[in-house]
Amino acid sequence: MSGALKDAVLSFSASPDRLQTVRTRASPQWSVILYTVIATAVLFSYSFLFNPFTRDLVLNVDQTVPVNAQRILQQCAFLKIVPGPGAAFHTREVSDRFEFGTKPTLIKNATIWTGLSNGTEILTGDVFFKNGIVNRLGKLPKHLLDREDDLVIVEANGAWVTPGLVDLHTHLGILSAPVLGGTFDLTSPHGPIVPWFRSIDAFNTHDDSFEHAIAGGVTTAQILPGSGNAIGGQAFMVKLRPTAKKTPTSMLLEPPVSLWDSGVDFDGHLPWRHLKQACGENVNAYGTRMDTMWWYRSAYDGARKIKEAQDDYCIKAEAGLWNQLQGQPYPENLQWEALVDVLRGRVKISTHCYEAIDLDALVRLTNEFQFPIASIHHASEAYLVPETLKKAFGGPPAIALFANHNRFKREAYRGSEFAPRILADNGIPVIMKSDHPVLDSRHVLYEAQQAHYYGLQPHLALTSVTSTPAEAAGLSHRIGSLQEGADADIVIWDSHPLQLGATPRQVWIDGIPQLNASNNQEHVLVGSQKTNEGSQEMPRVPSWDSERLKAIQYDGLPPLEPERIVNGPVILTNVAEVWERSDSGVKQRWSTQPGRELGTVVLADGKIVCVGGYQKCVQAEKAGLVVDIHGGSVGPGLISAGSTLGIEEMELEASTGPGPSFNPYLQGIPAVLEDTGGLVRTVDSLKFATRDALIAHRSGVTYGVSTLRSSTFTLETTFRTGASHSLESNAVIRDITALHVHIERPIPYSAAAFPPISISTQITGLRRLLLNSNYHNTETGYWFDKAAEGAIPLIISVNNADIMATLLRLKADVEEQRGTRLNMIFNSAIEAHLLAKEIAEANAGVIMTARQVPLSWDSRRIIARPPLTNTTAIATLVEHGVTVGLGVIEATEAASIRFDAAWAALEADGRLTKAQTYELVTTNLEKMFGIADWIKQDDALVIYDGGDIFSLESKVIGIASPSKGNVEFF
Ligand SMILES: *[C@@H]1O[C@H](CO)[C@@H](O)[C@H](O)[C@H]1NC(C)=O
Ligand SMILES: *[C@@H]1O[C@H](CO)[C@@H](O)[C@H](O)[C@H]1NC(C)=O
Ligand SMILES: *[C@@H]1O[C@H](CO)[C@@H](O)[C@H](O)[C@H]1NC(C)=O
Repeated sequence: MSGALKDAVLSFSASPDRLQTVRTRASPQWSVILYTVIATAVLFSYSFLFNPFTRDLVLNVDQTVPVNAQRILQQCAFLKIVPGPGAAFHTREVSDRFEFGTKPTLIKNATIWTGLSNGTEILTGDVFFKNGIVNRLGKLPKHLLDREDDLVIVEANGAWVTPGLVDLHTHLGILSAPVLGGTFDLTSPHGPIVPWFRSIDAFNTHDDSFEHAIAGGVTTAQILPGSGNAIGGQAFMVKLRPTAKKTPTSMLLEPPVSLWDSGVDFDGHLPWRHLKQACGENVNAYGTRMDTMWWYRSAYDGARKIKEAQDDYCIKAEAGLWNQLQGQPYPENLQWEALVDVLRGRVKISTHCYEAIDLDALVRLTNEFQFPIASIHHASEAYLVPETLKKAFGGPPAIALFANHNRFKREAYRGSEFAPRILADNGIPVIMKSDHPVLDSRHVLYEAQQAHYYGLQPHLALTSVTSTPAEAAGLSHRIGSLQEGADADIVIWDSHPLQLGATPRQVWIDGIPQLNASNNQEHVLVGSQKTNEGSQEMPRVPSWDSERLKAIQYDGLPPLEPERIVNGPVILTNVAEVWERSDSGVKQRWSTQPGRELGTVVLADGKIVCVGGYQKCVQAEKAGLVVDIHGGSVGPGLISAGSTLGIEEMELEASTGPGPSFNPYLQGIPAVLEDTGGLVRTVDSLKFATRDALIAHRSGVTYGVSTLRSSTFTLETTFRTGASHSLESNAVIRDITALHVHIERPIPYSAAAFPPISISTQITGLRRLLLNSNYHNTETGYWFDKAAEGAIPLIISVNNADIMATLLRLKADVEEQRGTRLNMIFNSAIEAHLLAKEIAEANAGVIMTARQVPLSWDSRRIIARPPLTNTTAIATLVEHGVTVGLGVIEATEAASIRFDAAWAALEADGRLTKAQTYELVTTNLEKMFGIADWIKQDDALVIYDGGDIFSLESKVIGIASPSKGNVEFF
């Protein structure tokens, strides 16, 4: 080694750390080169003289060392650094994210789920953290706290403590709440390949969602650009807490060195970088799938050439062959440097990719260019092709999924709620994610709870939102698990975290308490620890073994029709409860008494003919199919209101939906309608046996009241979700159920066609239609008259309280002028709680979702729910006497409304009885829609095995139907 070169390497280090890194990594290289050179020189010296690379070495030609040699050698040394925590990380005593003034804290007597050993480790004891770092866990040595002044002590009383949750797929800050046109910074319109695009450059620190995500226990999130580009840009990991500096930069966790300089000023620790990729239909602005793969290949080919040029260059520079590099700059290109880093294995890539075709193409790409992908997101068909995933370069990527948000387009059509378990059984890491704001990041744990419900093992359900995403982001040394030396991102829960409605009582990020932080009480725990039976234990869940096998067997489209239809009598044994519709609502007809044996229900022709003791009932009905329901229950079928259930098969596939409607505010209505309003009927667009409808049916949601989202004025219809066509008896329960109107300002992100016209114009239209009978010779006039007379309900989709107030005044005007009673229902109604008293006085109804999300300007004034408030919008409205029903937005959500209702009750903390909770998804909706008599004639009953309707332990196994005279079993 020439003296000049050695000097260059040694003088390169400014700190011992650096020196060590460079030496240990560089020295084997030197010896290899030298030994090779000497050995080969002896044997093949002839050929050496003709090889320009070796000739200089052998002949010992004088080299002219350029003035920037040191920098070049730094750059070359930098290429050899492997990302990950540096040696200094493991001895750190103060976190780089420590905020001055944060007090040391001791959580006493906790049940600590650490996230380690694949999520199987549970410790009992204490958690001590200081300087932003977990210091000790479990049983603490006595003297440890002796010298801690200012120690904050939190009594956990045995509560569950977990690491802060990690949401690997969000658009927090770049699609921020409230969503406004100017904050829509998701993707680049400038081509399919934009690796230079960086989400941090658009990151808005004023996103209202940060606070809500933290309230759900989420402490770290990946900020991904959108999926409209094949290589959509660099992503960043951020901690969601507010920082003293208030900047996007200060929220970054382990920012990559590329953010600060061109990547040479490192301290021996190279943070991972993050990149977003996408395949499939989201990239179709730039061509087809075939184009996309070519875009990828040509981009990575370009990057590979730069990488190879760098490697060649560095071999020469490090060998001191400066003459050969004369006049040649170090090969680099700012546009492509991120992809060069991909090829160097320094980037944790998140790829949006759904179908087997795309997964296969992606796996081929990783092998062609030899780089790993850390996680594949959405990946609806991943569970169908595990062997393909295992062939990905560097091993199978983690798969980041929704629990059951499927079927909204072809790419998601074969998605399955059983996918997490199937992937886990194949040894593939499973991550649950929100894709915030597609789902609310606040409820990413609910995704894990549902994955658990559908079969994912509990330890893996918890790691799916903690240590597995942390690992996929290359940050498992500091987040996603509780271990000594990790960041102090910690959550105390009010119940077992896999229980529905599990709510943080405190969340620490970098050791700083986040809930109620403003009142300066560091020891505060919010709300109370749940004490209802089993709430601190892991929920038992049903078995889905046969459903899981069928999902695979039928390539994601297993038959959904009943497996068995029984026309004769059915005897249900081991029944814990029976609920039924009554004139006032839902009431418990029978329940087992503590210490007494479980009961029996006999069904004949789909009707209950006996409830009570086995002896008594079996006397009444001796022969029949006997079904043990293991402490399960029987109760009325539920109603899904508000989505497009039963109208379209895939939301984003126009050919499977109702087609566009006419908007009377914006365009002329086709003359053939002879109707200026263009009022249309949903019943004409019903599609029976859609997968969403059949899944809703077999989940106990037997009725749907659905709406055409694209239509300004619509007549809604009530139908049976399990029917196979509209001519089947009771398939259409009531063809015209309600007149539905949207009154909203256009929302930037919304796909729905709300009229982009003024609110005043929309209300003026409504006023004329309700007050004047001028239009009585048209469909529109006729049905608005009916609504004004109270003959059918007028349901108005609206979120803003001011608009609702105006509508209540309009209601009063109509009633006064026409001497009628207008039955007005607000749908969605996110701000309704602001008018709870007035809505109750006006006798208007409200349909809202269980977990409101404040996404738009008109819906930002929510009651934020526990732990941020100690009440909820639903509880507030019910307490004021408003009739409230639970609605759903997406057809895929219909199947889980019983869990939504359970959630609403848990958060109302005793303010809703079980009967009231049942009514939210049954009779309250029936009352508002005026369909109680029709439903009662049909009166489908749901049979739950293993638990009651609101429990994760139960599973719907059958529907009894008096109108069909049979019992369907699934
Ligand atoms: C975690 O699970 C994986 C996959 O089943 C297994 O390979 C690994 O050994 C497990 N690790 C530990 C620490 O149990
Ligand atoms: C820990 O909490 C549990 C549950 O509240 C309680 O029974 C136990 O006595 C507590 N132990 C200590 C040491 O405080
Ligand atoms: C909820 O908040 C109200 C108003 O601040 C308060 O009066 C009430 O005691 C609280 N209830 C609970 C259960 O904390």
